[in-house]
Amino acid sequence: MNLFAKPSASIFGEVICPGDKSISQRAVILGSILNEDIAIEGFLNGEDPISTANALNAIGSSISINGTSVIIEKRNTPFKKPETEVDLGNSGTGMRLMMGLISSLNIEATLVGDESLTKRPMLRIANPLNEMGASIACNEGKPPVKISPGKILDNYTYEMPIASAQVKSGIILSALAANKNVTVIEKHPTRNHTERMISYFQGNIESIPYKAGNKISYTPSGLIASKSYEVVGDFSSAAFLIVAGLIAKESNIVIKNVGLNPTRCGLIDVLKSMGGFIEIKNQKLTSNEEVGDIYVRSSSLRGISISGDVIPNIIDEIPILSIAAAFADGETSISDAEELRVKESDRLQAISDGLAKINVNHELFKDGIKIAGSSKDIEVSPEIDSHGDHRIAMSFLIASLRSTNGIFVKDCKNIFTSFPYFIDVMKTLGIDVHER
Ligand code: S3P
Repeated sequence: MNLFAKPSASIFGEVICPGDKSISQRAVILGSILNEDIAIEGFLNGEDPISTANALNAIGSSISINGTSVIIEKRNTPFKKPETEVDLGNSGTGMRLMMGLISSLNIEATLVGDESLTKRPMLRIANPLNEMGASIACNEGKPPVKISPGKILDNYTYEMPIASAQVKSGIILSALAANKNVTVIEKHPTRNHTERMISYFQGNIESIPYKAGNKISYTPSGLIASKSYEVVGDFSSAAFLIVAGLIAKESNIVIKNVGLNPTRCGLIDVLKSMGGFIEIKNQKLTSNEEVGDIYVRSSSLRGISISGDVIPNIIDEIPILSIAAAFADGETSISDAEELRVKESDRLQAISDGLAKINVNHELFKDGIKIAGSSKDIEVSPEIDSHGDHRIAMSFLIASLRSTNGIFVKDCKNIFTSFPYFIDVMKTLGIDVHER
């Protein structure tokens, strides 16, 4: 699917943020481990959470999805060996978290994914899980992932060499499903939805600050199901709308029900220090996650330098931050972000290729990029390659707000993995995005 975004100088309106992808995936996994009747509201009806739910059903869960409502029914039988290969589609989170869960269930399973997922590194999670007693084999470190019955040890401790919430969560889920104690040390804070959800279901999990990061310990105690779980909006999806509001010539937009977990929304401070007008109202706690409404107005941005501890917090937002940087006065430099090379695409390369097409000067590094921004509009008629990556596709479609001829982006079907109603939400704000 190729998309064309027409230029639009002004955007106005109020939209509701789609459900959080990371949280939706964790909710169906933890709900399945809990094995009680649970209703989930606000679920992201996107391809990634759906492939995770299908994977859980393949091993015996009973999950039914109806729009943004999900029902998990109590099972009377234990998890079982899936009849066929389990397909996690495009989802790195789905695969890594399911590796954690399945490695504790004493069953065999083979996990596969699409072309992008088949290229992504899995040893970061397979190695610690194997050390913990699992039996996992990868294909040169990548999917397909073959899981055989293993024996999960008690009191395993793992210090992660990279900042990864997926690795942390995979290990914790494995211990949880096997009823074992575990400790994970993260050198830099990463998103803590798994820890918060376990606490929400009254599990015994503790996170204490440790050096520059956290030491997270889970002690088996059994989870207690609450009848319902409400998924807050996805900050990473809201980020596209926030940057749209900032770079548009005229704008006044409201994004309602956005998840504001402090381990996720570092982009707000980054954009504010670039001069962005962003206000948060109606903040509250929903299912142990902060949530609020975000108000954005068009702003004159200036470049800044970003590196270090904030990077894991804004990792998924760097593609759209690069678009903000392209229209900010002065240089924006992003470093310590080599992880971007192993996301749904090599995102540093994909950002660089796209910026080159819209004539934005920049310099690419192994772990980052320097972007020489300006308040000039895009005057070419570019054809951008999304590299099959949802966040790259949406980022360059948003750049159309500052173009005179619109922007064409190839291969956008993966937008459905994280933001299935993107085109409708754009329309509500006054941005015409259509198939071409
Ligand atoms: C995610 C964690 C991040 C993020 C990904 C979702 C999660 O990846 O980039 O989109 O749900 O735990 P890493 O944990 O690999 O950094």
